[in-house]
Amino acid sequence: MLPGRKAYWGSLELHQYPDALSVVRALAPEEPVILNRPHAATRAARFFVEKFPGKSLYAVKANPSPDLLKVLWDAGVTHFDVASIAEVRLVRATLPEAVLCFMHPVKTPGAIAEAYRQHGVRVFSLDSTEELEKIVAATEGATDLSLCVRLRVSSDYSELSLASKFGVDLADAAPLLQAARQVADSLGICFHVGSQAMTPFAYVQAMERVRAAIVDASVTIDIIDVGGGFPSIYPGMEPPPLEDYFGVIHRAAESLPVSYSSELWCEPGRRCVRNTTR
Ligand SMILES: Cc1ncc(COP(=O)(O)O)c(C=O)c1O
Repeated sequence: MLPGRKAYWGSLELHQYPDALSVVRALAPEEPVILNRPHAATRAARFFVEKFPGKSLYAVKANPSPDLLKVLWDAGVTHFDVASIAEVRLVRATLPEAVLCFMHPVKTPGAIAEAYRQHGVRVFSLDSTEELEKIVAATEGATDLSLCVRLRVSSDYSELSLASKFGVDLADAAPLLQAARQVADSLGICFHVGSQAMTPFAYVQAMERVRAAIVDASVTIDIIDVGGGFPSIYPGMEPPPLEDYFGVIHRAAESLPVSYSSELWCEPGRRCVRNTTR
């Protein structure tokens, strides 16, 4: 393990340890301790920033340690996928300039209103008409919203296939996209293939669904967000190189009918913060 950093929430107390065992020996901690490996995180973040053919948002839920958030910011990550009002507050307090994207498709009206009014959040995801109405009401009919409609996609290729719990079915996507287009300054389609997607084909299949949704709805799309799912290397689990994923996603995005006018986004979580060789 590379030199680690012990992070206490809200504390500036930093220590260097050669490995996890020395932390246990030195501290005998009663409570969980986060060990950050800033060099590894910097390397992983730079890889996304430099090589992903679009914008990379860090999915904060993977590791919300403030020290780590600063490391990612210093490595060039400017956009953060936040999934709760607690994450919104934390990232805003840690990185005042960061762009926050509230990508949980189900939020309370209070969370939306606070995120919009107090923390400058303009990007929200949704997967139902009820959520769209909630966002419009909680932001008092704001005209500067970026709304990302989450599409349900298969998570068959992922080791952690929680993805299918959210997202609008393709059959119901067109009316929701059309309704969101009416109120959004900027309209996106997002999805999440599930964590540890062990083959780039997961994204090809999902992008085919995005294509069908765009054709059905016949609306202009400004953002295509392929979500997270980029696999980390675990013992006995050797995924293809990340470049293969980026290449496949780039080709799929280029072939969409909105390629000329839309931005490409991704939301890596664990691949940025799990032990990684790149
Ligand atoms: C919407 C969304 N985006 C991104 C992620 C990050 O996924 P991963 O850590 O697999 O990259 C998740 C994780 O659950 C998610 O739900």
